[in-house]
Amino acid sequence: MERKDEQYILQMKNIVKTFPGVRALDQVNLNVRPGTVHALMGENGAGKSTLMKCLFGIYVPDSGEIEFKGEKVQFTNPKQALDHGVSMVHQELNQVPEISVMENIWMGRIPKTGIIVDDTRMYEDTKKIFENLDLQIDPREKISHLSVSRRQMIEIAKAVSAEAKVVVLDEPTSSLTETEVKHLFRIIKQLKKQGCGIIYISHKMEEILEISDDVTVMRDGQYIYSGRANEMNTDQLIALIVGRELTNRFPEKINVPQTKALLKVEHLNGLYGPTVTDATFELRKGEVLGISGLMGSRRTETVETIFGLRLKDSGTIEKDGKVIGNYNAREAIDNGFALITEDRRQSGIFAGLDIEFNSTIANMNRYANSFGMIDRKKMVKDTKWVIDRLRVKTSAQSEKIGNLSGGNQQKVIMGRWLLIDSQIMMLDEPTRGIDVGAKYEIYQLVMEYAAKGNGVIFISSEMPELLGITDRIMVMSNGRVAGIVDTAATSQEEILKLSAKYL
Ligand SMILES: Nc1ncnc2c1ncn2[C@@H]1O[C@H](COP(=O)(O)OP(=O)(O)OP(=O)(O)O)[C@@H](O)[C@H]1O
Ligand SMILES: [Mg+2]
Repeated sequence: MERKDEQYILQMKNIVKTFPGVRALDQVNLNVRPGTVHALMGENGAGKSTLMKCLFGIYVPDSGEIEFKGEKVQFTNPKQALDHGVSMVHQELNQVPEISVMENIWMGRIPKTGIIVDDTRMYEDTKKIFENLDLQIDPREKISHLSVSRRQMIEIAKAVSAEAKVVVLDEPTSSLTETEVKHLFRIIKQLKKQGCGIIYISHKMEEILEISDDVTVMRDGQYIYSGRANEMNTDQLIALIVGRELTNRFPEKINVPQTKALLKVEHLNGLYGPTVTDATFELRKGEVLGISGLMGSRRTETVETIFGLRLKDSGTIEKDGKVIGNYNAREAIDNGFALITEDRRQSGIFAGLDIEFNSTIANMNRYANSFGMIDRKKMVKDTKWVIDRLRVKTSAQSEKIGNLSGGNQQKVIMGRWLLIDSQIMMLDEPTRGIDVGAKYEIYQLVMEYAAKGNGVIFISSEMPELLGITDRIMVMSNGRVAGIVDTAATSQEEILKLSAKYL
């Protein structure tokens, strides 16, 4: 194929960026054609976000060149980039919660008449953008009143509002519902038509190949490959990303569910708000029980109620035939429960502290020896286990967790809970934002854990994953149990049908 004459809207050439002890980017190239979606792929810590931060002037590259519309540029900050039509939707949302939607969109460039803020114009302009994008959001609504997924849509609207020529989406769909993802894809197609170049970062293989025209793969800060998306399949792409054969995305099943129930939940009702309603189910020893459901089916509320993070109204929880209270998280942990929450990144992280602290903090009594002293050696050993088993990419245990890539931060928090001595582990979307190689490790850990006679509750919105690793799947709709099916005998269609059941 003749590529010499092709016009690129954006070229990043031989970009190098180092941090103390880490060569985060080593001569990386990225060439984005106008009117296309360019997938930027790589494992957690490969350097994707860092490359984008170099584009936006959040980091200054050590060397390398950036050309935008054929001219050499180096933006000094994201605002300047935005003014030139280069915009970004970040992996971590960084909106100010107490201001309105429209103020958020126009922040730094609020329309004024003289020195007076032109509120009406701002409202009208925002409304027009939303109408264009088919978004039903009130521009005057406060950011804090909106769900995470709607906030993400606003970020996207903001990116689009700047008449962008290049839009970067760093894991945009991680918290979107299926309908919203479709909506986002429609917006992306519209942007393509306008000649915009879109850089798309995601760990979801199916999604990537569906939406992208070109693919660039990075590994360990190195530039590995660029090519057309329609010239490759998922397996080839995975091999490029992880740098080794990964023929099966799911490990062999090694756990065998027993007939005996480990956990029995009967007529469980949450107390406040839209929550779990009259849920009855059991989890067997040695079993991985998946929970499927659409956004809003209250899967998270269900496990949080079991774990004591939310108040119960009525119903019983039995473990090993004994009724237990689990009135708060401490009690649940003492009763042998562990919960890995969905918003790991927001909740559990002590950003300024190191990996060792972040891995061991939930579990300090594990490290007190018989003299009441802290057993540092054991902490170091456990932290090493977390780093090795979950493939945390870092140069040292003493690295601040805040310096790790998004996905690697999540792995550490997950490791923290894996270290806790438990018999019932509940995981809420554990592989969201995690790369394909580490996903495999997580599946393996889950099955090993169950194979010991423990039980796992695994919430996921990714159907292949649920079908790949669970023994049974409980489908929820509107806070209620819509059905429980045997994984080996069910199908995607059956599960979707159950999740759409009106209860
Ligand atoms: N401010 C920093 N200080 C030190 N190291 C950093 C800093 N920012 C990033 N790194 C390191 O650079 C490497 C690349 O990180 P980056 O965030 O770009 O990864 P990523 O590809 O976006 O991963 P993910 O898929 O997990 O988001 C990682 O090893 C990370 O620890
Ligand atoms: Mg990242």
